[in-house]
Amino acid sequence: MNLDEGMVRPDCLATLPPAAGHTREELLQPFTDEVYGVIPPPCEDLEFRVTSEGTAFGGLGLRREISLLCRQRNEQQTLRMLLYLPAHAKKPVGVFFGLNFRGNLGVTPDPGVTFIPFQRYGDLPISKLRYHDSRYDESTRGSLADRWEIENTLRRGCAVATIGFFDIYPDRPAGVFQDSVMRLFHTEEEWESPNRASGAISAWAWGVMRGIDCLYGQPEIDRAKIAVLGHSRLGKTALWAGANDPRISLVISNCSGTLGAKLSHRNFGESYEWIDFWNPHWTRASFRKYVRHEELFPVDQHWLMAAIAPRRLMVISATEDSYADPLGEYLALQMASSAWGDGDAMPPKPPPPAQLLRSQAGNLAYYLRKAPHSIALENWNAILDFADF
Ligand code: GCU
Repeated sequence: MNLDEGMVRPDCLATLPPAAGHTREELLQPFTDEVYGVIPPPCEDLEFRVTSEGTAFGGLGLRREISLLCRQRNEQQTLRMLLYLPAHAKKPVGVFFGLNFRGNLGVTPDPGVTFIPFQRYGDLPISKLRYHDSRYDESTRGSLADRWEIENTLRRGCAVATIGFFDIYPDRPAGVFQDSVMRLFHTEEEWESPNRASGAISAWAWGVMRGIDCLYGQPEIDRAKIAVLGHSRLGKTALWAGANDPRISLVISNCSGTLGAKLSHRNFGESYEWIDFWNPHWTRASFRKYVRHEELFPVDQHWLMAAIAPRRLMVISATEDSYADPLGEYLALQMASSAWGDGDAMPPKPPPPAQLLRSQAGNLAYYLRKAPHSIALENWNAILDFADF
């Protein structure tokens, strides 16, 4: 990669405000006010109900399915967590927790995962591909298992937890209020208004936080070792949740791109305009004023990353994922690293593919995979090596 690659305004990065020297509140403010919006507070009542438990993967793991019953203002939303614990652990273990795209049934072929029937949404005329409801059912059980290295993680003595993002906020531009957690905190009128003060990424981050509430209640989990990971739009979510919730000890962004790890002022890859065209529901309404005007946004994603300091952060990119701008993702991390201090300074240039780069003090890491936009065994190996839980 050439450092000037794709830079329409090569001097723009020099004018961005540095990440060091700000409080977490100051770092979060522009993103709360202008991008993702407010993450609602915890709900009035949150109950955890274990709905099934059993051994999995030939005795390697213990499977626990837990319903998170979130109650507020006479409304209730149920999030379903799938948790795998290493069966033979002698002390509390670290956990890798992430939302998934298509329901818990998709992440593993384990026949013990309960299929919960659901009502499928119809395709939207704007794009069948983007808004096709591809949640898994019995016929597609385990089809996304290559994105979730559950057995390998258990073998390394760590737990894996996941919740389907449809349980929290169905990923569609409109018509999902009644099925989303936002109905616990807003009226439909507020939510559908053109001045909506929040978006789906904040809803998903709220779901991640309730997942952590649940993990805190599991005696087998070591509360000092909670990693939150996410791929693509869920990588954006992992960063936003990680910046807001200090209980997360390690944040992992995989190919998160625009509104995730990449610097938008570079003007390379996916623009704000594309995000807003396809996914206007991800952000709050005030974000729209930056569409076609990335340069007006006063900071960039290095500020979001800096809000994670002094906790740990890993950014993973893919060489063929130019839409997510791998170089822009690295440069954001490099610019954010000043918030951790000299021991975590990242070099000006990214490492070659397949070489895990850790900062000297060990709080930051970057990994570039020679691949398209995806997450697979190679990514998980780098994650598990860096986490060292
Ligand atoms: C789209 C979107 C990206 C996002 C990706 C994903 O391509 O434009 O911003 O990261 O979907 O979530 O897979």
